[in-house]
Amino acid sequence: MTATAASTATGGAASGLRHLAIIMDGNGRWAKAHRLPRIAGHRAGVEAVRRVVEAAPELGIEVLTLYAFSSENWKRPADEVADLMGLLRHYIQSEINALHKNGVRLDFIGDYRALKPDLVKLLEKARLQTADNRRLTLIMALNYGGQDELTRAARSLARDVATGSLDPEAISVETVSARLDTAGLPPPDLVLRTSGEMRLSNFLLWQSAYAEFVATDTLWPDFDAASLADAVAEFATRERRFGGR
Ligand code: IPE
Ligand code: IPE
Ligand code: MG
Repeated sequence: MTATAASTATGGAASGLRHLAIIMDGNGRWAKAHRLPRIAGHRAGVEAVRRVVEAAPELGIEVLTLYAFSSENWKRPADEVADLMGLLRHYIQSEINALHKNGVRLDFIGDYRALKPDLVKLLEKARLQTADNRRLTLIMALNYGGQDELTRAARSLARDVATGSLDPEAISVETVSARLDTAGLPPPDLVLRTSGEMRLSNFLLWQSAYAEFVATDTLWPDFDAASLADAVAEFATRERRFGGR
């Protein structure tokens, strides 16, 4: 197969969409529309995660980042927070072997080490088990906030300056990027938000500097492989400039 034929076979590669980041929103509204409790919306949201993780590599996507729990989501009622943590635990437990078999490398961004110790243990184990997989990198943003991430990076740089191991003049865009949770990952090419909201809600603030943005009215639990293909097709129509001309 020629390089062109190979990239045509994989839509994402052809469109240049290596890293897709999704703000999965609308679970609560979906539940309300179906006259169900909020947890039913979150459960249906997990099904959408399964569909999208399966469809992403076929569209040439190499990195998929999913915003699962923000550093501000602690403001929600305790029972909803507990439901979300329970679903996360269940998703990892029930899905890890299938993810591994499908060549998915699972990793996390955000201050996830502040979650419950048994959950952190489970996450670390999943990360280690899948560390050598290369078909898709699945990043789950857990207890993630862009401001918190940048604050932690600033603190880490300041510490090195204080001990004399880092010259403040040597701090560059690259140095800062390397201290973020996303160190080593390409920046997102596309940030997609479901449920019609037009805001970033503290997601990948630094990394999205030149990301394209797509908002779809589809509620996250209704999102499927066809919705994903539509977003990739929309991305392919965009002319990216990165400040040039
Ligand atoms: C997204 O759905 C899931 C999380 C933020 C964890 P929401 O729970 O925010 O759903 P809406 O926005 O209330 O519809
Ligand atoms: C963003 O959605 C966080 C996640 C998708 C995990 P929210 O529903 O929490 O965002 P806001 O509060 O509407 O901005
Ligand atoms: Mg929401």
